[in-house]
Amino acid sequence: MEQKILEIKETALKEIEKTYDLKSLEEVKNKYLSRASELNNLKKGLKDVPPEQRPKIGALVNQVSKEIETLTNQKQEEFYTAELNKKLESEKIDITLPSTFEPVGHVHPLTKTINEIVEIFELLGFSLIENQYSPEVETVKYNFDLLNTPKEHPARDVQDTFYSKLGENVVLRSQTSNAQVRQMQNSRPPIKIVSPGRVYRSESVSARKNNLFHQIEGLYVDKNVTFSDLKGVLNEFIRLYFGSYRPTRFRNSFFPFTEPSAEIDVQCIMCEGKGCPTCSGTGWLEILGAGMVDPNVLKAVDIDPEVYSGFAFGMGVERLTMLKYAIDDIRLFFNDDIRFLNQF
Ligand code: PHE
Repeated sequence: MEQKILEIKETALKEIEKTYDLKSLEEVKNKYLSRASELNNLKKGLKDVPPEQRPKIGALVNQVSKEIETLTNQKQEEFYTAELNKKLESEKIDITLPSTFEPVGHVHPLTKTINEIVEIFELLGFSLIENQYSPEVETVKYNFDLLNTPKEHPARDVQDTFYSKLGENVVLRSQTSNAQVRQMQNSRPPIKIVSPGRVYRSESVSARKNNLFHQIEGLYVDKNVTFSDLKGVLNEFIRLYFGSYRPTRFRNSFFPFTEPSAEIDVQCIMCEGKGCPTCSGTGWLEILGAGMVDPNVLKAVDIDPEVYSGFAFGMGVERLTMLKYAIDDIRLFFNDDIRFLNQF
C-alpha cells in the first residue's frame, strides 16, 4: 500500500509539472484531491489496514495529499499571475503615443484677409457690419439708383451686371457700395463702418478676373469729415496691411457716388517701384477706389449735406490677397485645391 501511495504521488507530481494553465491544473487537482480520487479511496480503505500499520500509512496518505495540494496551489498562483499579466499587457493603453490624425479644415485665404482688414479698421474706430444691411441679391435701386448712378451708366449694362430672371429690377450686386446706402438709411451719423462681402460681375473669367469676387466697403459720415481724413485712414490701413510704410499715390478718378473721387495706388510690392510684370512696368498697383460721399447720395437718405460730410472706399479682397502672397491666378481661390489652400 505504501508503494501504491508513492506511485500516486510520483504520477501526480509529473502531471502537475505538465500543466500549462489554470484549466489544465484544475483537472489534475480534481483528479488527485477530489472525494472520488484514488488517494481519498485509499483513506477510506485504511480501516482494512492492520492496526499497527495504520498510523504510518495514514500519515503518508495525508502527507502526500498535502504535498499535492501545496504544489497545485503554488502552480495556481503562478498561472493566475501569468494570466493577469498577459491580460494587463494586452489591454495596456500608452497615453504617451501621439493621437490618431484627424484632419481639420482651416480658414480660407480670402476669409483670412477679410478678417485681417476688418481688424485693422476696427483699430481705426470702424465697426463691422455684416450682410443684414447689404444683401447679395439686390435691387437696382440700391445697387445703382440711390448711389447716384445715371440711367445710362455703362456699369448698369447686362455686359457688366447680372440681372435676375425675377425681374429687371433685381441684380446680383456688382459692388458692396449698396451697404453704404442701407447703412445710412438704417442709422444716423456718426456712421463709421466696414462691410465685407461677395460681389458679381458679368465678365469673362481669366487669371485676373472672376465673375464672383469679394470687396470690403468702408463709410465714415460725421460733421467735418474731410479728404485729409480719408488720406490719413487709407495710408494707415496700407501701412498696417502690408506691414511697413509704403509710398501711395492718390489719383483723380470718377465714381457716381463720390465727389471728388480717387483711385489709390501703392508702390509695387514685388519690385518696389522699379517696374515688373505685376505692375505692368509702372511701379504702382491700384488697390482702392474712394472719395467724398456725393451730396446727392446723402440727400437721398435724408442726411443733410450742409451739416454732414463723409468719405467712402471700396477694395478688392482677391487683389489684396494676391499681392500679399504673390498669387498669380485669381481662379485658385475658387478651385478648392487642397494643395493651394493648405499653404495658408
Ligand atoms: N464701388 C466701387 C467699385 O466697385 C469702389 C468704391 C467704393 C469707390 C466706395 C468709391 C467709394 O469700383
